[in-house]
Amino acid sequence: MAEDHPQHELAIRVGSLHKSYRLGDRRVDALNGMDLEITEPGFYAVMGASGSGKSTLLHLLAGLDQADQGTLEVLGTRIDQLPEHELTRYRRHTVGVMFQRFNLLPTLTAYENVVLPGVLDKRPPAELRERGMGLLEEMGLADRGRHRPDALSGGEQQRVAIARALFFAPQILFADEPTGNLDTHSSERLWSTMEDLADQRNMIVLMVTHEAEAASRCRKVFLVKDGCGAGVIDAEDLEPSELAARATAITRST
Ligand SMILES: Nc1ncnc2c1ncn2[C@@H]1O[C@H](COP(=O)(O)OP(=O)(O)OP(=O)(O)O)[C@@H](O)[C@H]1O
Ligand SMILES: [Mg+2]
Repeated sequence: MAEDHPQHELAIRVGSLHKSYRLGDRRVDALNGMDLEITEPGFYAVMGASGSGKSTLLHLLAGLDQADQGTLEVLGTRIDQLPEHELTRYRRHTVGVMFQRFNLLPTLTAYENVVLPGVLDKRPPAELRERGMGLLEEMGLADRGRHRPDALSGGEQQRVAIARALFFAPQILFADEPTGNLDTHSSERLWSTMEDLADQRNMIVLMVTHEAEAASRCRKVFLVKDGCGAGVIDAEDLEPSELAARATAITRST
């Protein structure tokens, strides 16, 4: 193995994952034997109808909730078997997470939002400053550090959210419909940012999206239907319209 390789394998493996929620006296099976495998860095998408279980999958992968059954292996660790204190560390340090909205604390400035993970982790001020300023700069927000979220555009807010997710330089970023509330231009910029992260930082970026335009920039698209994997599309070199047509055909036939 080359010396610059990480000790663990950069991979995500989800096996026969089950998760149900209780809603009054009704049981909702959100995941029903979901499988997924990623073994190389890159930009990946998860697509599927509303209610098919995409957010549930991302929540479990991010360590935000517990599965009922099945296996979740991330970077060589079975996160479904981690004790709570190690799961907290996993959530904070190993992976970065962002959502469609409500990513930022409204009372903190952009800079304070970015360095929040470091503050919670009691990192020294010099490190906070260096990381915080560096990440804001990397996201093209060097002059926005003092703004509160409500004084930033939606696209800027999401770039602050990415900067914060990268505070501990995770090798994996999970994003749940990160451009769901953005205009076309801001969406495209955010997709490019995520693509660059995957390429330049050798990360796995896994994004839930409803947009074929976004998915067509990805290496692979994982289709989800009724809480199960319905198929995988090699999306490289596919036009958005072709990708959408294939996704519809596969999802219909399963
Ligand atoms: N906390 C919860 N309590 C009860 N049911 C839930 C809960 N979270 C999700 N569900 C249900 O689980 C199923 C899967 O939900 P999930 O949010 O994972 O879908 P999704 O694919 O992300 O949908 P969308 O595209 O609309 O975001 C849905 O039927 C949903 O109503
Ligand atoms: Mg969702």
